[in-house]
Amino acid sequence: MHVSVVGSGYIGTTIAAWFAELGHTVTNVDIDEDVVAAVNNGEAPIHEPGLDELMAAHGGDALVATTDYDEVAGSDVTFLALPTPSNDDGSIDLSAMKAAAESLGDVIAEKDDDHLVVVKSTVIPGTTAETIAPIIEDASGKTVGEGFRIAMNPEFLREGFALDDFKDPDKIVIGAEDDQAVETLNRVYEPLVEAAAGDPAIVETGIREAEMIKYANNAFLATKVSLINELGNICKEYGVDAYEVADAIALDHRIDEHFLRSGLGWGGSCFPKDVAAIRAAARDRDYDPVLLDATVEVNDRQPERLLDLLDDHTDVAGKRVAVMGLAFKPGTDDIRYTRAVPVIEGLLERDAEIVAYDPVATENMREQYPDITYADSAAEALEGASAALFVTDWDEFGALDAEFEAMAEPVVIDGRRIVEPRDGIEYDGLTW
Ligand code: UGA
Repeated sequence: MHVSVVGSGYIGTTIAAWFAELGHTVTNVDIDEDVVAAVNNGEAPIHEPGLDELMAAHGGDALVATTDYDEVAGSDVTFLALPTPSNDDGSIDLSAMKAAAESLGDVIAEKDDDHLVVVKSTVIPGTTAETIAPIIEDASGKTVGEGFRIAMNPEFLREGFALDDFKDPDKIVIGAEDDQAVETLNRVYEPLVEAAAGDPAIVETGIREAEMIKYANNAFLATKVSLINELGNICKEYGVDAYEVADAIALDHRIDEHFLRSGLGWGGSCFPKDVAAIRAAARDRDYDPVLLDATVEVNDRQPERLLDLLDDHTDVAGKRVAVMGLAFKPGTDDIRYTRAVPVIEGLLERDAEIVAYDPVATENMREQYPDITYADSAAEALEGASAALFVTDWDEFGALDAEFEAMAEPVVIDGRRIVEPRDGIEYDGLTW
């Protein structure tokens, strides 16, 4: 098949590269000329493990990038994989989606077949049919079902594992209202289903349901982490190890072991944005989402609790404090909504002298906080520090040992259960 993908973020690039690997001809449209040039040179425009190899194999060959929407004309289906960032009130900003829909409509106006437009981006129920489709109708002069079709196909890829998650998904959600759209999407995914190591479920559902499934998935996982964090906070008050409790409740198959790591909480480009959007959407219909409000409140509280724990051990005013890890999770340089920011803010309020270290996210954080000190290694960050706060669970932190000996005061406050308590350090954990 000939598949088009609009957008070259981590979702767009991942699916474009994988569709090419699966044997489809792929056109990737993006407004950024540097990104287009990189893809056509066989280079990955973003950092995602395994992407370099796929891009080298297909970029400029089975996968061709372009800034020109006209190139979409020859394809059977177009996936819209554009960002839907948060507005100030938590609702989503659809401007990139709307602009793409209009450009796509202009191309569809000239096509004489039934082009399928698939919304991949995370959007509030109703958006595909009530906002995106009418823009395409206006621009193309055609109507849904007569000239083009629409579908919604949400994505569940994790940053840092996007390629692995794509090739072996738990489920593929196909939201559509007509059989031809369902059939086309099934054909797109057929080679993936055949090659997958597991047995992915194909969920055929309505467009609004598909839109909601994405929010429900992320809201559920964020709430699961906040619930184990709330239980973890209570554990801490009673001298109970929340990880032992989590390991035991995980044995109940109705709970399972995933997303039960308590600590500093969740960040990144997805959970904060998606939980905010679905809360705003609920309020828009006069529904008060009390549990999702609490999910966010518990998450906001965790960095404060880490700093309170630090205060219990030492007064950091005027002292050097190491912030260990800046990325919102290991395996990425993404610092969006990272828990490191409220931790840094709390240390600045306490007049601490901050030295921060992260294996890959330093340059991103330097743009936001140019005046704090950045170390080139974990050892350099710990040297002379009166306290170390562990914010991201990078594997290399678990291997630290003699490096702690160079601290001025060996106070170690762990927000991620990544350091083993040992003789010679004053160790405390957030929920254990
Ligand atoms: C998340 C979802 O897991 C993906 O399925 C989804 O496709 C993606 O959002 C998206 O909407 O695009 P991601 O943001 O890459 O993926 O990150 P996760 O691996 O889910 O981690 C999210 C946060 O939760 C991280 O800050 C992590 O440290 C935290 N977390 C996770 C915990 O604190 N405890 C846990 O047990 C698990």
